[in-house]
Amino acid sequence: MRALQQTSLNGPRDLRLITDAPVPRPGPGEILIRVAAAGVNFVDISQARGTFAGGPQPPYTAGIEGAGPITAVGEGVTGLEPGVHVIGVGIRGGAFAEYMVLPAAGAIPVPAGWADPQALGLVVNWPTALAALKPLGGLTAGQAVLIHAAAGGTGQAAVRIAKHYGATVIATASPGKHEVVRALGADHVLDSHDADLAAEVRRLTGGVGADLVLESVGGAVLEAGLAAAKRVTGRVVVYGLAGGRATVTNWDLVYRHQVQVVGLNIGTLIQAAPQIFGEIMGELFGLVAAGVIGPGEPTEYELADGPKALAELEARTTVGKLALLP
Ligand SMILES: NC(=O)c1ccc[n+]([C@@H]2O[C@H](COP(=O)([O-])OP(=O)(O)OC[C@H]3O[C@@H](n4cnc5c(N)ncnc54)[C@H](OP(=O)(O)O)[C@@H]3O)[C@@H](O)[C@H]2O)c1
Repeated sequence: MRALQQTSLNGPRDLRLITDAPVPRPGPGEILIRVAAAGVNFVDISQARGTFAGGPQPPYTAGIEGAGPITAVGEGVTGLEPGVHVIGVGIRGGAFAEYMVLPAAGAIPVPAGWADPQALGLVVNWPTALAALKPLGGLTAGQAVLIHAAAGGTGQAAVRIAKHYGATVIATASPGKHEVVRALGADHVLDSHDADLAAEVRRLTGGVGADLVLESVGGAVLEAGLAAAKRVTGRVVVYGLAGGRATVTNWDLVYRHQVQVVGLNIGTLIQAAPQIFGEIMGELFGLVAAGVIGPGEPTEYELADGPKALAELEARTTVGKLALLP
């Protein structure tokens, strides 16, 4: 089958199309799908650069998120049959290919009436955004939330959910993406390249700061988020480091930023707190049923253009969810 193989840890430029990859076979508890659409995620960049803890070693078939019809089921799988369209995540890769193996337990049916590409994000971006906002971030109506990378796949989901639950959204994005973020309902949109984001957020919140900060950028932006959060009760949920590592010391938390810092990794949340994950997915399906979350509109690329899609994501030029069509 055709597949995109990552051949080094030098990033997406060493992601190569191969045509002789073996079709994988589902083991116990697994299903095989024909990948109709694969989701592109920032994690693909982290894995391609070797910054993803415990990530796959090259050569590996890239891509973690796939949607399409089931073509075979492994031993012990119940409730899922060939022909059913599902979306799921395989964190060890394999999605950027014509066929992919997924753990059956985490595969969910594509919502009725949706095409496979429209379901991308339902098992990565939306649960991550909801986890950051509600169970971990404790967001309630009327509170102010700062959302970085708000035009991105996860950021757009976060803006939509935060507005649905009645929060005031202060978003950041590169200048060319501001209209998209405003159209999602964000109350204020700041330039993510602005050197003094914290001062802007304090100004917009009457001097007190944001009740919640969704931090996915790292580098100097982590410091800005800590400074932008409300003292004592403000929460900073850290779930990404697109812009690099950053350090917070005990001195910082005692003398400079008296805020609550929370780490989020959706894979760990699924493993270590399945009940919370179940509640998140239940809430998301309620939002789908109510029409609050509608079918996605990913930007589609041919499989062969996967390296280009990843390079654009890394260069910060993309908006929203990206899909590869094998
Ligand atoms: N912890 C978890 O479980 C989990 C799960 C899903 C996603 N995430 C994280 O959530 C973040 C968003 O992921 P996504 O897949 O939805 O990607 P995305 O938001 O669609 O794309 C990344 C965006 O981050 C912003 N950014 C800021 N500094 C950047 C830098 N130095 N390099 C690249 N991008 C930079 C850019 O937006 P602007 O140019 O508009 O500022 C860029 O468009 C990532 O950090 C990802 O690792 C974490």
